[in-house]
Amino acid sequence: MEQQRYYGRDLICTQDWERDELEEILRLARKMKEHRYSPKYTELLLHRTFLMFFYNPSVRTRQSFEAAATELGGHAQFLEPGSMRLKSSNTAGETIEDAAKVMSRYAVGIGIRILEDRIAKYGDGDEFLREYASWANIPVLNMADDKFHPFQGLADVMGMRENISEDMRGKTLLQYWGHGALARSWCSVQESLLINSRMGMNIVLAYPDGYDLDPDVIALTKKNCQNNGGSFSISHDPLECYRGADVVYSRNWMSPRAYDNGFDKQKEIKQALTHPEWICDHEKMRHTNNAYFIHPMPVDRKHEVTDEVASGERSLIYDIAENRLHIQKAVMALTMSTEW
Ligand code: CP
Repeated sequence: MEQQRYYGRDLICTQDWERDELEEILRLARKMKEHRYSPKYTELLLHRTFLMFFYNPSVRTRQSFEAAATELGGHAQFLEPGSMRLKSSNTAGETIEDAAKVMSRYAVGIGIRILEDRIAKYGDGDEFLREYASWANIPVLNMADDKFHPFQGLADVMGMRENISEDMRGKTLLQYWGHGALARSWCSVQESLLINSRMGMNIVLAYPDGYDLDPDVIALTKKNCQNNGGSFSISHDPLECYRGADVVYSRNWMSPRAYDNGFDKQKEIKQALTHPEWICDHEKMRHTNNAYFIHPMPVDRKHEVTDEVASGERSLIYDIAENRLHIQKAVMALTMSTEW
């Protein structure tokens, strides 16, 4: 039975799922968007609980997961990790094994966000999620860790398909570093590289010297491009890279040195702000193939992108933010129910 293929699965990075499985998520999300309150969907998680704990702040992810659980007939319980007496590297408490096994008795799924200043070094957040997933008997969903943000990547693809083309093969995505005051983790950007390279897009990754991403993710992105007919290139020129782009995704990310002596956010921000030329603006967009603008939000306006572009007629930011809800409903239905 097709439903059994998805039931109980974790989603930590889209690269962990087969391409046709991602298509199933996107297909169901589209149907759920079209028939949002159809009785076909509103009881899929009736009386079921989805547990969420956020080590970092969120607007969209928290609200859209809560709304998703409600629209599927269930409930999302918001947990403060600080109030759970969990063991950490410097405090005594409950182990991940015990917490995950107990939570599996109460709920149908667990969502976790952990990144930026809540980890000691790059990779810790993703490892933490994978450890939860190894002990839990219910799906563990990544609500953004330091490496990946699968729901954002899927919502980006859905938004581009709806507004640009059902088939994004051969279109060029400019993944652009924007200078900024938020010192962001690499999750949204790396997820975008991985999923869009699997969708056959040409990827241009542009950033100033000193902002390399995870070499393993770059190697996978190149392989994805080769396997799916796209191309991959890196540019360090803040303007030239715009030529021929169909989609521009401008987003700040922290440097690979960010955790060298403990996470120093202010130092990262100070360094990033020395590159004011790295901003997506109308003048640069004129060099593109009349590109659309995308961004996972929250937007750091006037740093990553100007108001004119972020709020312009080619901006897809609100459609994509809405799609987070539909994608999450689809994944929750696929992994926590067999009735879809
Ligand atoms: N894009 C995104 O994950 O937004 P939040 O940080 O507000 O959840």
